[in-house]
Amino acid sequence: MHNIAGSPVEGHDFFGREAVVARLQDILDNDDILLLGPRRIGKTSAARAVMKQVRAAGWRAIEINVASCVDESGFLDKLEAALQPEVSSLTARSAGAIGDALAAIGRRIKSVKIPLPGAGSFGVELGEGSAEDWTQVGGDVLQLIAQMEERWLIYVDELPILLFNMIRNDPLTGVQRVRRFLDRIPLSEDDAGSIVTAVQWPQPYYLQATFHHLRSLIGANPGASAASLIEQAMDKLVQPGADNDFHHWQGRLSQQLSRADADHAQAMLNLAARDPSGARPESLLAALEERMGEATTEQARRTFIRLRDILQRDAYWWPDEGSGAKRYRFRLEPLRRWWLRRDTL
Ligand SMILES: Nc1ncnc2c1ncn2[C@@H]1O[C@H](COP(=O)(O)OP(=O)(O)OP(=O)(O)O)[C@@H](O)[C@H]1O
Ligand SMILES: [Mg+2]
Repeated sequence: MHNIAGSPVEGHDFFGREAVVARLQDILDNDDILLLGPRRIGKTSAARAVMKQVRAAGWRAIEINVASCVDESGFLDKLEAALQPEVSSLTARSAGAIGDALAAIGRRIKSVKIPLPGAGSFGVELGEGSAEDWTQVGGDVLQLIAQMEERWLIYVDELPILLFNMIRNDPLTGVQRVRRFLDRIPLSEDDAGSIVTAVQWPQPYYLQATFHHLRSLIGANPGASAASLIEQAMDKLVQPGADNDFHHWQGRLSQQLSRADADHAQAMLNLAARDPSGARPESLLAALEERMGEATTEQARRTFIRLRDILQRDAYWWPDEGSGAKRYRFRLEPLRRWWLRRDTL
């Protein structure tokens, strides 16, 4: 072990801290890490030890030091420079496509747009090239990385220095730029309430999924308030091809019910889906009677009650008596929209 006092230590010179490294590696499985610590405490050395560990586990890992960067474009230049050699070691086919896309990145960033509440956006020109906002370019880089098969660790050293530089060089919008850079979305208590109201049934997964779409919409619409984009986020959530689990709700009906019952239940839900406030029991029963043809009113009634209870128990719908007359309405508004879209030509 060498006696190094100053530069980060690696390999045999890195002593102990196995538990720290293991813990950090563990966290990275699902989360990002902000590693804060006093000067010379050993952050860079620990981060490099983590990089070594994840590489051994088949990840790709790159390190960029952004102390000399003064703006977003400088950050992306660093990222590009570190990614290039990694990309050239990929299989020829994917390296071609990804490499071309990467090469174009540095030239693409021209402006940084800062959303100003109620006043559109304010642009800072950073260089020549096509007028593209850096968040778009940055988003594309992340998408490129996501397309690669391996998992990635991107270690950014000295990030606070870049953030201070941005604030110091741009007294007018520096702070907002830093917020944007860190992807901190201003979400007021009211905005959060609006998301819950929009989803109706505050289940964590659906709140997360809605916020996921909201977040990318906010990125694509600088200047728009979060609240004004919630509707669009809900729409995105129920589009075909979206990675949603609404199909399970439908599939479960045919799994647990007889063919005839599943079809009846489906028809009742189709009817309830037409209105966010649901359908009256009388119309649901009438629809069922029509479907059951020969059956007596009493048989239709009993089928209605049986299926109604199942749909209520399994949280498809609930009896809302808030407006006086009872209505069976979907618990989960995104599911209602998905159901309606499926049932509409
Ligand atoms: N695990 C370790 N084993 C041995 N020495 C270490 C270890 N971690 C840190 N050091 C010592 O601390 C010094 C600083 O380490 P390092 O550069 O990793 O810290 P840092 O927190 O990144 O510092 P800075 O805040 O300056 O970036 C090293 O040169 C070495 O002397
Ligand atoms: Mg360091």
